[in-house]
Amino acid sequence: MEIKTASGDITQIKAGAIVVNFFEGMKRPDGDLAKIDKALEGAISQLISQGEIKGKLGEITVIHSLGKLPAHRVVVVGLGKPPQLSQDKVRRLVAETCRLLRQKAVDSIATVAQGAGVAGINDESAAQAVTEGALLGTYLFRRHMTREAEHGEIKELIIVAADKAKLVPLRRGCNQGRIMAEATNLARDMVNEPANYMTPSQMAKTARKLATSYGLEVSLLEKKQMGELGMGALLGVAQGSREPPKFITLHYRGRNATEIDVALVGKGITFDSGGISIKPSKGMAEMKGDMAGGAAVMAALSAIARLKTKINAMAIIPATENLPGDSALKPGDILTAINGKTIEIISTDAEGRLILADALGYAKKLGARTIVDVATLTGSIRVALADIYSGALGNNQGLIDRLVSAAAAAGELIWPLPMHEGYGEKIKSDVADIKNVGTQYGGAITAAQFLAEFVGDTPWVHLDIAGTSLSEKEQGYLVKGASGVAVRTLVNLVLSLASSQSQEVG
Ligand code: BES
Ligand code: ZN
Ligand code: ZN
Repeated sequence: MEIKTASGDITQIKAGAIVVNFFEGMKRPDGDLAKIDKALEGAISQLISQGEIKGKLGEITVIHSLGKLPAHRVVVVGLGKPPQLSQDKVRRLVAETCRLLRQKAVDSIATVAQGAGVAGINDESAAQAVTEGALLGTYLFRRHMTREAEHGEIKELIIVAADKAKLVPLRRGCNQGRIMAEATNLARDMVNEPANYMTPSQMAKTARKLATSYGLEVSLLEKKQMGELGMGALLGVAQGSREPPKFITLHYRGRNATEIDVALVGKGITFDSGGISIKPSKGMAEMKGDMAGGAAVMAALSAIARLKTKINAMAIIPATENLPGDSALKPGDILTAINGKTIEIISTDAEGRLILADALGYAKKLGARTIVDVATLTGSIRVALADIYSGALGNNQGLIDRLVSAAAAAGELIWPLPMHEGYGEKIKSDVADIKNVGTQYGGAITAAQFLAEFVGDTPWVHLDIAGTSLSEKEQGYLVKGASGVAVRTLVNLVLSLASSQSQEVG
């Protein structure tokens, strides 16, 4: 879908549909809607007085113009009560409207910067929300389908402003929205791709492509180099599979300095069978998405580069399968990670923390000033927060707070969980420094406590997206399948780190 901006009179635009808003509590149409109402000989005022159009949040009314306007349809979308509107509500509603119109074979839409001027939403953030809603909500994964689609395709969406002066903020919002949404959809594609396609080598190839497209440096370490670096934990997980593991790094330099301001580390298990501690077969296919953290950090870094953010950032993705091959890791084995710490394996299914141990240790060794990791790490976070909130844990409250607000700006939800030495006690091993599983309870926390062993005192936050990386159904801008969660949150976080850093410098 192409998203454009234009100035002019929306009522005079020729399109499959023009989409305009109505707020709850309004008695009669005003502004553009009044003009449209007049052209439609009072059809809208009639629908209002008959109670069909109330302006309730999410109410969508489709009216055919039957030649009375250049556009074939007028779509009136209810935005609820003005003070309660938010950028995320706009995002969700635009997504739902676009899907409905696609179903009706509409291929071009004109709309306004929905919500602009209300509840603190400005032109730029409204345009961004409209763009994100449209691109995220109409996402489809059809790469492996040979049968024809049952729906049409929206080819064009134009955001129209009456006032020419608004074009600058609208374009800015549109551009930011497109970059955010395309990155999210890239992560969704990677997660939706089955494990026989999205292998560690394929993840590496995707990283190489992103590097070429957006001017990033890419490095792909092979088994031998992982060995030389002492990545015994990652190699331990990889040894059960014939697919070669890849240690992927992407480096974006947005300011003139050698330091790495922030390292984004993502779990890249392209399939998690559980290994020798094999998972039950029911629902195992879902584990093709166990690289959602890796996909998110890669996609986020591409957006950070496209936005020309003034920061030095890296994406680090340890990628491997977790399979029970004849040379697989076994419960009871002891591995040595990159920082020399020894790990007793209790369950080979707690593999995410093993590969992250080496990746976090690597980020730490490089001297990254801030580390954020994203992982589909534990079933336990799902028990605690279901598919609504992602869980955040870390060693720096300021960074956790920042991540939570970056998520809020993206319309994503993050809830902090506590860390405490008491949880650390639970992963002490009798035969090694630590073990990879604690006790039955508090699994998301003991997992984070395990990761903490590899970051030392570097400010670090861990985001567990095991509950939120997939959506069970179409809802708002989510569609069934990969959600692309964390991509927009990470971009917002890095933008915020960059802006406070530039203030520090002067
Ligand atoms: N990849 C899983 C976590 C997961 C569960 C992701 C559900 C998405 C949906 C992870 O590797 C895992 O298997 N964790 C185990 C750890 C346990 C053995 C300590 C878990 O949470 O059950
Ligand atoms: Zn596992
Ligand atoms: Zn896993």
